[in-house]
Amino acid sequence: MTDSLTIALSKGRILDETLPLLAAAGIEPLDNPRISRKLIFATNQSHIRLVIIRAADVPTFVEFGAADLGVSGKDVLMEHDGDLFELLDLGIARCRLMVAEPAEMAANDNPANWSRLRIATKYVHITRRFFATKGVQTEIIKLYGSMELAPLVGLADRIVDLVDTGNTLKANNLVEVEHIADISSWLVGNTASMKLKHELMQSTVAAIAAVLDEK
Ligand code: ATP
Ligand code: PRP
Repeated sequence: MTDSLTIALSKGRILDETLPLLAAAGIEPLDNPRISRKLIFATNQSHIRLVIIRAADVPTFVEFGAADLGVSGKDVLMEHDGDLFELLDLGIARCRLMVAEPAEMAANDNPANWSRLRIATKYVHITRRFFATKGVQTEIIKLYGSMELAPLVGLADRIVDLVDTGNTLKANNLVEVEHIADISSWLVGNTASMKLKHELMQSTVAAIAAVLDEK
């Protein structure tokens, strides 16, 4: 189907910021994805449909061509590390990926002296890569959420997690000690679709880029 496009959107917090952006670019779902249990949504543009999936699955759908375009956090893209085009920084869902540790540990800690760390995170690959380039050995404990709990119950000394306002760290007496990356959500594209559906992909990306330019 070279005459139609599927766009994969992350459900959750990214969706709330993506839908207005798409609407401004002239793409609006016919049903409300915030309340519907549907997974596929037709839009006002008959050749464009949306699929709404878990944030961590967007790069997989796009890489394997189940979706032509997708909207995904840079954190998820870095962790996935797959073969897809990063087309536009949408500038939404901004936060930062940080190493954090208990405040009392930070008082006597120097990251320059780190040699071996026990870290809880859902970003296993990013964490391994980040510390490997620094020559720091890591024992990584994979979690799926609430990373901040790990140092409080002795599961790990430190965490790698997203920080926005810093409220979650503060509420759990943790502090940021190392910056890994600034995060925002990106429009990504399937590499084959960029060639096979060139015109449709280009016009859709251009419509979204125009909305960003107006901001
Ligand atoms: P799931 O609910 O499927 O397990 P999730 O908990 O990672 O996924 P969200 O919390 O909706 O899903 O986060 C999705 C994306 O939003 C993240 O990958 C990141 O890019 C961004 N994000 C997460 N937390 C924040 C935050 N506190 N502030 C801003 N952006 C954030
Ligand atoms: C994210 C992230 C932090 C929190 C940071 O969690 O994992 O816990 O937001 O935001 P803050 O600095 O503004 O407090 P989320 O709310 O997505 O919950 P999760 O643990 O289920 O991922």
